[in-house]
Amino acid sequence: MAIINVDSNGKADVLDYKNALEILEKEYSQRDGIDVQTLINSKTNGGLTYNDFLILPGYIGFAANEVALDTPITKRITLKTPFVSSPMDTVTEHQMAIHIALLGGLGVIHHNCSAEEQAEMVAKVKRFENGFISDPIVISPETTVAEAKALKEKWGFGGFPVTEKGTLRSKLVGIITPRDVQFHDNLNDPVTAVMSTDLITAREGIDLKEANDILTKSKKGKLPIVDENFNLITLVSRSDLMKNLHYPLASKLPESKQLISAAAIGTRPEDKVRLQKLVDAGLDIVVLDSSQGNSMYQIEMIKYIKEKYPNLDVIGGNVVTREQAAALIAAGVDGLRIGMGSGSACITQEVMAVGRPQATSVYNVTSFARRFGVPCIADGGIQNVGHIVKGIALGASTVMMGGLLAGTTESPGQYFVSREGQLVKAYRGMGSIDAMEDKKAGAGSKDAKASNAGTARYFSEGDRLLVAQGVSGSVLDRGSVNKFIPYLMAGVQHSLQDIGVKSLTELRQGVVDGTVRFEMRTVSAQAEGNVHGLHSFDKKLYS
Ligand code: IMP
Repeated sequence: MAIINVDSNGKADVLDYKNALEILEKEYSQRDGIDVQTLINSKTNGGLTYNDFLILPGYIGFAANEVALDTPITKRITLKTPFVSSPMDTVTEHQMAIHIALLGGLGVIHHNCSAEEQAEMVAKVKRFENGFISDPIVISPETTVAEAKALKEKWGFGGFPVTEKGTLRSKLVGIITPRDVQFHDNLNDPVTAVMSTDLITAREGIDLKEANDILTKSKKGKLPIVDENFNLITLVSRSDLMKNLHYPLASKLPESKQLISAAAIGTRPEDKVRLQKLVDAGLDIVVLDSSQGNSMYQIEMIKYIKEKYPNLDVIGGNVVTREQAAALIAAGVDGLRIGMGSGSACITQEVMAVGRPQATSVYNVTSFARRFGVPCIADGGIQNVGHIVKGIALGASTVMMGGLLAGTTESPGQYFVSREGQLVKAYRGMGSIDAMEDKKAGAGSKDAKASNAGTARYFSEGDRLLVAQGVSGSVLDRGSVNKFIPYLMAGVQHSLQDIGVKSLTELRQGVVDGTVRFEMRTVSAQAEGNVHGLHSFDKKLYS
């Protein structure tokens, strides 16, 4: 091996380049950069935010699309992508929950509405995609064309089997499709006047593959499955077939064909009644929605749920310290949600003087929760792909996004044109005065009797004065999640490829082992790492 000889003039022999790797290993006891503990202990900045550090690149030995994004959301349930949408009334209703679940993530339905409305949204998620639809909407021959149209509005699909009694296990007499009623002006006519009766059916006992084959060959939208007496038993739908083809990552429990559904509730006694309705609608995961989760109310609620609904997974939070996390883990949570004051529409840290910078929160909570196998969601402050990767590198299993998804087509509300002429959608913190006043007036609900709404997260019933912890504003149009989530996925895969890890699990493990390295980022380093020196530019993120 070559040895460096430095002569009296300070001139060094150049080493044989072939020895570079050997010399690196022999003479440099530590890897370049710093390990995660050194990063977090760094006193220069106090608490760390995602912008305060970078991850160093590793070795690329695989293609980006080989990077696996599977990750747990609770002790029991694994998703195929780490993206979760926030339970906020400008972010997640059934449309968002359905589409993000189809893409491998999870939408948590907000509770700033009546229990009935929230349960209906859960039911819509559960009904959306099925192999065999075991509880299809069935109508009777007396149903009018107007009623069939109203059902289409309500459920978002328009094909309904018609049976003698209007129920399953009753004789099938026809099928009504959207086309049958679309141009039929006499709204009081019974559906029997327009329904299709040339039915292609299959017999009970057929397997899904055979049923799919029949549907694919037929020109029909639905295949009713009947028993020997022509009673309707179940249904297979062509649009579900197409969905199955186009959404291979869809979030489903292994034994189920239905999408996984999640919804948020508070920790008041009325929330127990609400929860029963959500469970009846098919809820899989309940998120206890509190800005400071370490409370006697939440601990009691966790114990109650684990006792009463052993098959329902409970995500507790929010927490930002080990101590808060320990209390909820001891009470039995299946997952934790981390973040206090880092949300884009949030003023908690300013107003309450309580909270914690998000990168520090994520590391401290996840490094403790990992010992008990409790997966964590990094909630709030995600502004770009880099923040997602950093949250996961610091130990989170998934990330929850509000503002980043509020501008998509699938979020609730209409687009409007801002004063500057840009297309925007409303986005508001659930602790904003607007959201809290909606809750007090019951106006957050189409049904004015909303008894217990989402902003209970931020104020108590007895409060005479509302103290805001959030603001209300707007965010730019981002198009459909059908494009935006695949962009986030591809971005995360490319980032992990640069780091040199092939999966989210490998990333987290590499950080624990000290093989994935970090670098602090000064203010000038942040300026250097962003666009600078250009007269003007267009920041288009994907096409
Ligand atoms: P974002 O993704 O940065 O917009 O943050 C979304 C997160 O902010 C949510 O998931 C909540 O944890 C949090 N949040 C929502 N509303 C408020 C509020 O009014 N005050 C403080 N935090 C909020």
